[in-house]
Amino acid sequence: MTAPTTATRPRPLPGTGAASGVLETLAFFRDPGFAQRRFARHGNVFETRLLGQPLVFIRGERAITDLLADSRRVEGWWPASVRDLLGSRSLANRNGADHRARRRVVGQLFAAAALRRYSPVIVALVEELADELGQAQEPVALAERLRRFAFSVIAAVVLGLDGDDREALFADFEIWTKGLFSFPLAIPGSPFARALAARGRLLERLTVVLRRAQAQAAAGEPLVAGGLDLLAGGLDEAGLPLADDDVVEQLLLLLFAGYETTASSLSCLMLALLQHPPVEGWLREELAGLSWPPAAEQATTAYDPGHAPRLDAVVQEVMRLTPPVGGFFRRTTAPLVLDGVQVPAGRVVQVALAAHNRHGEALPSTEPPVDADLESFRPQRHLDGPCPVALLPFGGGERVCLGKALAELEIRLLAVGLLKRVDLELVSGQNLELQVIPSPSPRDGLLVRSRMAPGEVVA
Ligand code: HEM
Repeated sequence: MTAPTTATRPRPLPGTGAASGVLETLAFFRDPGFAQRRFARHGNVFETRLLGQPLVFIRGERAITDLLADSRRVEGWWPASVRDLLGSRSLANRNGADHRARRRVVGQLFAAAALRRYSPVIVALVEELADELGQAQEPVALAERLRRFAFSVIAAVVLGLDGDDREALFADFEIWTKGLFSFPLAIPGSPFARALAARGRLLERLTVVLRRAQAQAAAGEPLVAGGLDLLAGGLDEAGLPLADDDVVEQLLLLLFAGYETTASSLSCLMLALLQHPPVEGWLREELAGLSWPPAAEQATTAYDPGHAPRLDAVVQEVMRLTPPVGGFFRRTTAPLVLDGVQVPAGRVVQVALAAHNRHGEALPSTEPPVDADLESFRPQRHLDGPCPVALLPFGGGERVCLGKALAELEIRLLAVGLLKRVDLELVSGQNLELQVIPSPSPRDGLLVRSRMAPGEVVA
């Protein structure tokens, strides 16, 4: 990232002129090029109004660096529906010392030692999915299977839940997720009201799971599965143990943050490979030199960028073109200058990652060709030298994604395991366009015909 700008005379904040924001809101939901078009017209920083909320959109390395440079001038922000469904105790809704204390506690779940503990569970879940796909007689909606896989990973490795308990949680999570970006009015029967009810049931179930782990710990029994013991002794900002209802809201956040995003990246990864056979062939050349399953002690490193640079390039390119989180937010608590534009205090700023990732402003002299090239899926660009766009799929600054290391591990293990064990083929005639809210996913569920790869048998 570049150094923060020190422009002396900031420009005023350009706006779309939207008064009520109704037309802008409709355009936002209908037009995938919504932000891109407005950036082209107004520059890298502009303000509009969505759902009655003034919103500043930014793209470009300079504006993003300026935003994240000084954490005292910004705070976290999420739309009201997300805020209400996550809950006021969730670290996503906290700021300052409150937020940092919870990040320290929850971060223990994703330390290197914890990932080593989780990796055999993830490998077993990949094997299970590969067996299921290898034996399928009918076309399978792969996106759906990958959602379940991603949910199983987080529910198994963090909560230590087995199959039936996971299924019970999964059903409510799907209801809860549908309410996340809906209109936050709890009219009976609306997605938001159903999601609020699901939230209540989820919190109850998570409380039971937490208490079970605490009882085991109190009885001196080792935890058989999961990482909840790693949270034991977690302290809040005043140095006091976190209350159970506090911990439970952090678990709810982790389950959500940990599966919706990862499931999206897995579906988009498989879709991209199936749509680009030459890239798949290029990646398979690398995989031919790697064995599956990995040796237990090497599972966290066997397919890392040092051992599998092509795989890393493919994952980066998928995250660039279809970022699982298309935009993240901050609210300014003091006036800020972003890429030379004055943004007043109290404004919500959206870092428009999806638009940012297709704009190669780092090379202004060659801008049109760079932007045209950035529209294409070309993983090799990440091996040729620095990418003309600074990629931030996991956000940045004090609120950077807590589960990045787990997500990356999970994506690598799944990609290698599936590509080595099963052959997949797209079913023709399906809609492969992506729905983008809450995270990109193929509209018809990514229908594939699958069979065991030659020489592979059910594990
Ligand atoms: C491909 C997968 C993932 C992507 C692309 C992703 C992306 C992001 C992004 C963009 C943010 C906002 C960062 C910011 O505001 O600067 C975020 C926050 C967060 N993510 Fe992830 N994430 C992924 C997977 C995960 C996983 C597996 C977990 C944990 C199980 C997780 C836990 C969190 C948490 C707890 C936060 C809130 C951090 C805070 O507010 O301090 N994420 N993630």
